[in-house]
Amino acid sequence: MKKILFIVLLNMSVSPAWAMAIPAADSAAGKLFAQRCSTCHALPHPKRLDWMHWRHMLGLMKMRMDEKHMSMPKEEWQRISAYLKQYANK
Ligand code: HEC
Repeated sequence: MKKILFIVLLNMSVSPAWAMAIPAADSAAGKLFAQRCSTCHALPHPKRLDWMHWRHMLGLMKMRMDEKHMSMPKEEWQRISAYLKQYANK
């Protein structure tokens, strides 16, 4: 019994990104988000945060990318922002 519980917990903690597909994954914006935001960590689901928190998080991620010389063009930030704004937790 203990073993089963352990396995269940383990599965929850390592649930892969594809276990919960992102919205509009085939759209240009969805693809850009998936590509740009999964290089340093697993892709976060848009529903994870509301737009207010995403806005803050994007500022932080810009700093993280600048530190690694992985800056994105402004136009890509705008497209990812619009995508997250649309699909964020309401
Ligand atoms: C250059 C590497 C890098 C890239 C690219 C990157 N991140 Fe991050 N991200 C980090 C680091 C490092 C942290 C840990 C918190 C910190 O140090 O700021 C983090 C943490 C996070 C977190 C909070 C932790 C969590 O999993 O809930 C979110 C949400 C997030 N990133 C979203 C994004 C999004 C959206 C993008 C694409 C725009 C992105 N990240 C691209 C480095 C990166």
